[in-house]
Amino acid sequence: MAQRIQGTEDLYGGYMRSWQRMCDIARELFGAYGFDAIETPAIEQVATFTHGIGESTDVVRKEMFRVFSGALLEDVFARGSEEGLKAKQRMAMRPEGTAGVVRAAVEHNFVPQGAAPAKVWYSEAMFRGERPQRGRLRQFHQVGVEWLGAEDPAADAETIIMLMEFYKRLGLPQESLTLRINSMGDGECRPAYREKVRQFILDHADEMCEDCRERADLNPLRAFDCKVDRDREIMRDAPLVTDNLCDDCRDHYAQVKKYLDEAGIKYIEDPTLVRGLDYYMRTVFEVEYTANAGIGAIGGGGRYDGLAELEGGKHTPGIGFAVGFERIMLALEDAGVNLAGEDPSCVYVANTEPELREAAFRATLALRSAGIRAEADYQGRSLKSQFKQADKHNARLCVVLGPDEVAAGVATVRDMGTHEQVQVPMADLAAKVSELLG
Ligand code: HAM
Repeated sequence: MAQRIQGTEDLYGGYMRSWQRMCDIARELFGAYGFDAIETPAIEQVATFTHGIGESTDVVRKEMFRVFSGALLEDVFARGSEEGLKAKQRMAMRPEGTAGVVRAAVEHNFVPQGAAPAKVWYSEAMFRGERPQRGRLRQFHQVGVEWLGAEDPAADAETIIMLMEFYKRLGLPQESLTLRINSMGDGECRPAYREKVRQFILDHADEMCEDCRERADLNPLRAFDCKVDRDREIMRDAPLVTDNLCDDCRDHYAQVKKYLDEAGIKYIEDPTLVRGLDYYMRTVFEVEYTANAGIGAIGGGGRYDGLAELEGGKHTPGIGFAVGFERIMLALEDAGVNLAGEDPSCVYVANTEPELREAAFRATLALRSAGIRAEADYQGRSLKSQFKQADKHNARLCVVLGPDEVAAGVATVRDMGTHEQVQVPMADLAAKVSELLG
């Protein structure tokens, strides 16, 4: 039997409705904050990601799916040219949304200075070659926002406030969430800090794992995220970024916290929060569903003022976040919240004999023209089995057409709950059904 790839999911039924509901809530809330929808391609040039996310990140080094066209592979096999393959392996599936959005902003000149759309949101599938497990997929879905052109710390605070409001509207109890924030410094203060952490790791190299020793040169700050207990313990004594910020970054961070306090947003300052993508600077944040430790981060983001330049554009400050749909669903399930709502109901049109199929066809179309979700029998079923079918379709009303009714130009409308029946002139069917549905 054909099977989906491990770590991918089919979205249908209530799960699909939950995803659509999440997107509806996003459209409404983010719209009020001035964000317009955007969709960028699922495949981009590899360079868009290597420049932005960073060559040394796990996402780029280990998790990015590269894409080869069949023609390229044929060419490589025919000529045996490894070099040709390397030169041409230019495409990758997006592992996240920010790099592509900033690439689009640079390419279409969204910003400078106030040109719209500089505030965009997206709901898209992302692809990462991770080891599949609960809440960690190879294809997953994110709702995210990117705000380009604002350096003001109020933009950082508003972005975080909007994120927390999003969780609230999704129905997640606020007390089950933990928001952690940090400042990662900028081009001014981070290089010196990075060097301090590198030195710290080298000083403790013989006690630390091989990955961390490798990180020392490649990406020392990632050592804060090491999963090995001993390394985590050692890193507790490492220099903290918040003790190494330049004046501008310290002021910026203080302002962000002031705005968050003013808005009554609860947060934990975590100077070891480094995030896994290299483009971040200054404010970073992550939200965890802490009522159930197994779910992990349900969203995160931060400021990336240098990213547009890395994508070949002018200096453009930016900040944003992304929320993972599949993890939100795990959290909602844990919290006992149903985002999908009830299964959709319909009106079922039944006919007592096959000769009346045409009358049923007309009645079904008339209901649908009036915007009513209508179903009918397409298998020549008996009336009893049509009623069963109506129940399976979650029908609230059934329109029953028999020979006498059709001859008299009327239909019987039966309430599937109370079994009450009324006769309605065919000409008024849609109006009467709408009225009964309330
Ligand atoms: P991220 O932290 O890599 O950030 O991902 C954001 C969210 O996507 C995570 O908190 C998690 O809920 C979900 N997620 C990530 N990887 C997986 C996976 N393999 N399976 C299921 N869910 C996953 C970003 O992607 C940044 N682009 C966020 C951002 C936007 N920063 C600035 N603007």
